[in-house]
Parts: sequence; structure tokens; C-alpha cells
Amino acid sequence: MGNALLVRGARQLLTLRGPAGPRRGPDLRDLSIIENGAMLIVDGRIHSIGPARRIENLSESRRAEEVDATGSVVMPGFVDAHTHLVHGPPRLADYEARIEGRTYQEIARNGGGIAWTIRAVRQATPRRLRFQALSSLRRFALTGTTTLEAKSGYALTLNGEIKILRLLKDLDGHPLDIIPTFLGAHIKPPDFIGDSYAFIDTLIREFLPEVAKKRLARFADVYCEQGAFSYPEALRYLEAAGRLGLPGRIHAAQFTDLGAVPLALETSAHSLDHLEVIDPKHIPALARSNIIATLLPCSVLHLGLTRYAPARALIDAGAAVAIASDYNPGTSPVWNMQTVISLACSQMRMTPAEAIVAATINGAWSLGAAARAGSLESGKQADFLVLSVSDYREIPYYIGANHVRRVFKRGVSIEAEPAPDPVIEREPLLP
Ligand code: NIG
Ligand code: FE
Repeated sequence: MGNALLVRGARQLLTLRGPAGPRRGPDLRDLSIIENGAMLIVDGRIHSIGPARRIENLSESRRAEEVDATGSVVMPGFVDAHTHLVHGPPRLADYEARIEGRTYQEIARNGGGIAWTIRAVRQATPRRLRFQALSSLRRFALTGTTTLEAKSGYALTLNGEIKILRLLKDLDGHPLDIIPTFLGAHIKPPDFIGDSYAFIDTLIREFLPEVAKKRLARFADVYCEQGAFSYPEALRYLEAAGRLGLPGRIHAAQFTDLGAVPLALETSAHSLDHLEVIDPKHIPALARSNIIATLLPCSVLHLGLTRYAPARALIDAGAAVAIASDYNPGTSPVWNMQTVISLACSQMRMTPAEAIVAATINGAWSLGAAARAGSLESGKQADFLVLSVSDYREIPYYIGANHVRRVFKRGVSIEAEPAPDPVIEREPLLP
């Protein structure tokens, strides 16, 4: 027998065992809890999971190293299905300007916003970007995220985008799993000569084939919004990406619904994200589809807005809902999925159980990672958390807390990872 670990004493072991598909309806609020549960892990995978008496009596358990989870909630690591991990410095001036009354869109029109980050990322040294990504990843890990999606989209030159995707590939598995998305259609780059339609042409002719050929991304993403890309532009881009084997993830209906649901249906997107202003008449069609509605409540909070995505209507119609951080410097400088869960509950009226399912297994389904992540079932990766709470409802209840006592990735404790180079940490943030 290989390396064995026995997790014992869990007061609530949230297994999230369930049907082999995205959770919706009643399944979305089923955590499959084992009270007084235990879990045996062999060589980084879950060997068996169940009531303590049964698991502890297995012959392998007797020789296993023990993880004491007495009185705690034990659950799968979070699967964060929407992040802009590599983004350079924070946008503090934008933040202050918004507090003083200017809107996100106004700031963007005046050279701030995404275009500001693009300039900063283009100027940043590879070492600096790597450091930013590493220190962000450490924060994700220590707050319980064990798998995350990460988008490019802040370089928007071919070499720059490839550099970011290569960085993501390089960081994958050390120790978090990173699923890379090519967000070439984020905005039209400020220095691009021609209209946004011509930029989409360039993406289709040059960027997408290169990204696909080098196998640098699993998905392609587009921001379908006023000031970014129109419905026909997004459609062309996603269709081209699909032909190259890159399924779509879509930013849409954040401020204007330009046809978010029809776009996602027509292109068989895996994930449709934001949806704060989704046209309610499209909710039934979305609910009938296999597209995951990925909701990002922290971006609403950080922008100081009040209109959250209609999670309740989506769930009640039968949609498969995920929640994610949207970690980015403009609208959501948040990595802690526990905070995302709190907002999902208090602002979008998801139940604590629904929010936990949305933050784990449904995120995993949207990323095509559900065979290995998102629930605690035998055969899956042992990506799990020991929390300092004894009832799962405490996770959202204590807003802004970090309840994570221990994080395990493939059965290995993450606390052991050293912090990134403290020398770089003292370098100025701006290039
Ligand atoms: O909120 N793609 C659009 N908006 C991103 C934030 C990008 C930014 O402001 O840097 C989002 O998902
Ligand atoms: Fe985003």
C-alpha cells in the first residue's frame, strides 16, 4: 500500500456525492453529509469515505497517518471557475475614483479600467508577473481554493497572451490545478488600428489558431458588452474557437444584455458568466440547457452596485448555477470563495447548501474537471479542507472570515508550501 492518510472525527463530512452531471433543482441543495465521517486517502486519491466506524476499521486505515478533524466540517476544496489570475498591479486609482462617484464605464472611457491594466501587464517584467500570480495563488490556496480557472486577456498582443498562457501552464499543479482560458476578446486593445470587428478577424486568423496549436488553453472567452464586443462579433469569435476545439466561456449581461443566452446556446458555451442584467424571458431556455450559469457576486459588491444576478429565479427555473470569485483588479479583488459564498447567500438568496454546491462541484462541471474535483468520492483527487467550524452554515454566516484550518491538495498539506520570494515582494508594484 502507498502513502495513506486517514481523516477522522469530522462532525460534518460534506461529500457532495450526487448525480453525474451539473447539480440543479433539489440536487443543488444536497451536500450529502456524513455525520461523524472519515475518509481514507491512498496516494493522493480518495480510497474510501463513509461513517467513521466503517472507514477506521479498514485494514489500510490502521497504518495510515492521521488528520485530526475532530468536531469540524470537512469538505472538498473550492473550485473557482472564473478568475483573471494574472493581472499585474491593483487598480487603486479606479477604486478611489468610483468611490468619488465616477462609474466603471466612465473610468474605462477615460483610459482607466481594463486598458490601464493592459498597459501595466505589457510593461511588467516576466519575473514581476510570475510573482503576482504566485502570491495570488498562495492566497487562493490558504483560503481553500484547490482548482481554479485562469484567464489571459490583459496583454492582447499575440506574444503577450502566449506569455501569460505559458505562465499559467508553468504554474499549473504547483500545487493548485489551473485551467487556462484564452480571453483574447476582452476588449479591443487601445492601440489596435481598426474597429472591433477587424480585431475579431485578427483573433480568428492569428491568435486562436496559435493558442490552439500550442495547446495553451482549454477554453476561449469573450466579453460581450457595450464598449467590448457585440453579439455578432462574439458569435464569430466563439464559432471559430469551437472549430479549433476551444469551447466557450462568456462574460455577458454584466451591464447590458446583448443576447447573452442566445449567444451561449448558439455556440454551446460551457459557462455563461455574470448575468446581473439577464433578460428574464431567457431564463427558461438557459435552465433547460447544459450551460452553467456562473454568478460573480463580489464584482457587484466591489463596484458598489446593488443589482445582483437573479440566482433565485435561475435556480428555481432549474438552471445549473455556479459561483466564482471573478478575481481581477477592476471589479473583484477577491480570492476568498468563503466570501463569495456569503454574498451568494445574503445578497442573492441562495441557501448555504446551494452556495457550497455552486462553489465546488458545479464549478468543476463548468470546467470539465468534475471527474477529479469538486466532491469527495472514491477515486477522486483528495482535494479537501478542514474548517474551523462545526456546521456548514457558519461558512457564509461569518462574513469575510477564513475558516480554513488545513488545505490538502492530492492528499498533501498545502501549508507546507513556502511563501513566494520576499525580496520581490518589496519591489514596487508598478514597472
Ligand atoms: O468583471 N471582462 C469584463 N470585466 C471583468 C473585469 C475586468 C477588469 O475590470 O479588469 C469582470 O469579469
Ligand atoms: Fe471576469
